[in-house]
Amino acid sequence: MGGMWTEGPLCYGGDYNPEQWPARVWAEDVALMRRARVNLVTVGVFAWSRLEPQPGRYHFDWLDQVLDLLHDGGIRVALATPTASPPPWFTLAHPEALPVTADGVRLHHGSRDTYCAVAPAYRQAARRIAGALADRYAHHPALAGWHVHNEYGTSCHCEHTASAFRRWLADRHGDLATLNDAWVTSFWSQHYTDWAQLSTPRATQYLANPGQLLDFRRFWSDTLLGAYAEQRDLLRAANPRLPVTTNYVLGDWVPVDHARWAAEVDLVAVDHYPSAVDIGAEEQTALVGDLARGWARHARPSPAADGTPAWLLMESAPNQIHTAGRMHTKEPGRMLRHSLAHVARGSHGAMFFQWRAPAGGAERFHSALVTHAGPDSRVFREAVELGTALQRLAEVRGPVEASVALVVDAASGWALRHPGLPSELLDHHGEAAAAHRGLWHAGYGCDVVVPGDPLPGYRLLVLPALYLIDDATAEWVREHVHGGGHLLATYLSGVADEHARVRLGGYPGALRDVLGVWAEEFHPLADGEQVTLSDGGTGRIWAETLRPAGAEVFTAYADGVLDGRPAVTRHRYGAGLAWYLSTRPDDDTYRRLLARAARAAGVRPVCPQAPDGVEAVRRRAGRHSWLFLFNHTDRQHRIAAQGVELLTDTTVEEAVTLPAGGVAVLREHPR
Ligand code: GAL
Repeated sequence: MGGMWTEGPLCYGGDYNPEQWPARVWAEDVALMRRARVNLVTVGVFAWSRLEPQPGRYHFDWLDQVLDLLHDGGIRVALATPTASPPPWFTLAHPEALPVTADGVRLHHGSRDTYCAVAPAYRQAARRIAGALADRYAHHPALAGWHVHNEYGTSCHCEHTASAFRRWLADRHGDLATLNDAWVTSFWSQHYTDWAQLSTPRATQYLANPGQLLDFRRFWSDTLLGAYAEQRDLLRAANPRLPVTTNYVLGDWVPVDHARWAAEVDLVAVDHYPSAVDIGAEEQTALVGDLARGWARHARPSPAADGTPAWLLMESAPNQIHTAGRMHTKEPGRMLRHSLAHVARGSHGAMFFQWRAPAGGAERFHSALVTHAGPDSRVFREAVELGTALQRLAEVRGPVEASVALVVDAASGWALRHPGLPSELLDHHGEAAAAHRGLWHAGYGCDVVVPGDPLPGYRLLVLPALYLIDDATAEWVREHVHGGGHLLATYLSGVADEHARVRLGGYPGALRDVLGVWAEEFHPLADGEQVTLSDGGTGRIWAETLRPAGAEVFTAYADGVLDGRPAVTRHRYGAGLAWYLSTRPDDDTYRRLLARAARAAGVRPVCPQAPDGVEAVRRRAGRHSWLFLFNHTDRQHRIAAQGVELLTDTTVEEAVTLPAGGVAVLREHPR
């Protein structure tokens, strides 16, 4: 599945909101879309109040016209269900379906996403509008598939939610004795003797129970997935040939386990808005592309013959990137670079929020392909260039070259956000990003995996503060290293079990044998504090009193209370090698260390001749390969390469010249 979106040409387009415009603008929209070579738009995401202005009374005429116009223009539609923004009549009729915060405050109408995903009235209304859309449009020729909802991620603490949580807990733990044990409720007199005593983690006097916090996140991920699946099943029943998906929103606040969700969508679709404006935006883009591709491996197999996991960049910003206090205008060419960086990592196209900038509403100044100024603008000219570029890349296919696997785990991310940890600076996603950044700057291709994924061909496995490790995951790591794989684990990996209970006998309980080292004491560092390392680098965030048990010291601490004690170690285990980092090295030191570990594992950079700042990604399909080169620096580089450069359709004999900010995509000579 996912095929109808991912088998044809690369997708190009974005959210299209014709309901915000008079009908006369629609024809111009389609003409401009054709000029830009847009071929897919998401329609109706927030159109519930226009589609169903009164309960059960539908206005479909405008949508009929829009879909026909788009179809006549050769533009396919991802038709959305509008359930992320219930209309005013709904909330007035069903105040009990409004969400409640952890503090017990019931939220009001006036923005979007204001509903409780468990409330029966909400679920019923969502099914009804989705069903009405399915009845009317499931066989419309413009449809390429369904886009359910928008960015599942809301939360709630109302009574509906509390009862559903209790049912979920009973299902997960079976009996109260097991739950009490998992949550260590002997602490602070929290022992439960009746299911009715359990509630969601509401605001409390002091620190909440970590087991409860973690289970609530898991429960909520499952709950939102249930809301999605309910709509998906109904849409699928109306036309089993149409793929169904929803767009993932990223961020550590999101209570969704995206890897688990991937098995339930026909196509992994992600929205990406970098939070950095400097090179950090490119680093984040690379990480998100690798994350999405990793999740896509859990999706239902795509019929794409080469077996490449299908995913799609569903939303991105054509221009401004949000930054603290202001919007940063993307430099000329950067939209193309960001889009193609996702395509390089397997996205079947580049989609944007949004097509046309609205004249009003909360996001009136969000960037769009058609700006407030209209099509006579730099952004629209770049949009036309991007449309051409994507057409020229139609032949690119196949898996991304990568021999390093980086583990990212939703539950570890949630658990390291709990209060009562030794440091507020702990962050699984931050550690994953730091390791990925180091690999990216050193030029190594990297796949993102979740615990338990098969690891064929990965020579180096990286665990970035993988805090929660159950017994099966510990065994998975052990087998990898014992069989000859290399491992690089950072501090706090394997310290707790799947219920966030600390593993006893010395940290990191789950991995002491593989790492050949254990930590007796933590030394969390203050924000901004650094320790010096014996290789001249520095460590931040964390330090530990390490006790080698078979491992050799690679780097030692060189000042402070740990002066002279091990900081980074490595250990032969079976046929493999396991590195341990007890601190977070500064970026340069980390990059050198990762390169060293990768070399030791026999991993080569994707394009050894590319200097730092020039990103290289290779896709391979059988004898064929394509090399993407991105020059993120502010000066020209000449990179030795041979083949045909697809964006300019020129033959490259010896080297490709990349101007500052330039991109090249080479079809390399077949092997
Ligand atoms: C996305 C969302 C869009 C729009 C966009 C603005 O997260 O799906 O509807 O709000 O952000 O950046």
